[in-house]
Amino acid sequence: MPSAIQPHGGHLIQRIATPAQRQEFLDQADHLPRIQLDARAVSDLEMIAIGGFSPLTGFMGQEDYETVLADMHLAHGLPWSIPITLPVDEAVADTVKEGSWVRLDDSEGHFIGVLELTQKYRYNKAYEAVQVYRTDDSQHPGVQVLYQQGSVYLAGPVWLLERQPHPLFPAYQIDPMVSRQQFQARGWSTVVGFQTRNPIHRAHEYIIKCALEIVDGLFLHPLVGATKSDDIPADVRMRCYEIMVEHYFPAERVILAINPAAMRYAGPREAIFHALVRKNYGCTHFIVGRDHAGVGDYYGTYDAQKIFAEFDPAALEITPLMFEHAFYCTRTNQMATTKTSPATKEERIHLSGTKVREMLRRGELPPPEFSRPAVAAELARAMQVPTA
Ligand code: ADX
Repeated sequence: MPSAIQPHGGHLIQRIATPAQRQEFLDQADHLPRIQLDARAVSDLEMIAIGGFSPLTGFMGQEDYETVLADMHLAHGLPWSIPITLPVDEAVADTVKEGSWVRLDDSEGHFIGVLELTQKYRYNKAYEAVQVYRTDDSQHPGVQVLYQQGSVYLAGPVWLLERQPHPLFPAYQIDPMVSRQQFQARGWSTVVGFQTRNPIHRAHEYIIKCALEIVDGLFLHPLVGATKSDDIPADVRMRCYEIMVEHYFPAERVILAINPAAMRYAGPREAIFHALVRKNYGCTHFIVGRDHAGVGDYYGTYDAQKIFAEFDPAALEITPLMFEHAFYCTRTNQMATTKTSPATKEERIHLSGTKVREMLRRGELPPPEFSRPAVAAELARAMQVPTA
């Protein structure tokens, strides 16, 4: 058996209630104060419960929150770059007491978890924005969420009542405990994780395949939690990923699974976070390409790569595989970067998820230099682009 990379902090957190705990929570349900979670908080709860956010056992207290903001470490010293917090309005915060249990409901009022409330604290939104997103511009989608949310954070360990199958993609719900087993069962000692929130275009495919040349397996791990409204919907993307795996990859070297987390668009800090989450799933390597988790022009093309130099590689453990901006080279008729192609600027066709979305919106089909034809056809069908 290949030896597996340890989860972040050395232990895979599991916060799914046992049947006995679940019964206890259900018995109390009607007597507990309630907090209604939005989509992001639901996915954070889920990620904590399944160990995707190990070593976190709950929503962050003030000490961790402050060290994460100030220098990207948890209070006890482990690297961590994104605050995982539960914001509520002040009026709601006043209804719950520190030291008590709080019932967590989803947006439809279903009882899904319990928070052992240890702390309530206020925070400075502008400071959090600048530290995490490098901007306080309310046009930034992550900053926008931050400015609209409640002004008090509730903190403490959580329990998920029950692990439900994903309503849309149950076959691809592979939690960290299971992905780790699957990597072992396939005999993979090195596994590269790939984060995406877009249909896979040729540049994605190129960098993934470069990585696959040097590792044993690929964990294709698209994010299906909350994204901004103009991103391609997750169900359409999933069909495109299935097409890619079926037609353009050796199936025995790929595991396709969903990442239930929400997108923050925090660029560099989110690249570190994305890598740590994939480490928890058992990946030894993680792909960071151009403007990873970026949006608009808020981050430099390679900021999400440069940030890795601020960490001790031994503390992160997972190895980033960094790729330059890839393009289709019309001189050599293949995907390339400036590291591998002599092409002039005019000979480079640059691709991006944003460009694919723009073309589809204009009713145009992405050309073969951009998207594999079967993927382009699926996108056209789903987005109702005429293909005649
Ligand atoms: S995101 O989560 O980083 O926003 P996206 O789907 O846009 O997802 O990109 C997935 C990964 O591919 C990221 O690591 C990104 O840096 C990389 N990437 C996307 N387009 C390119 C490109 N043209 N060249 C190199 N890397 C790219």
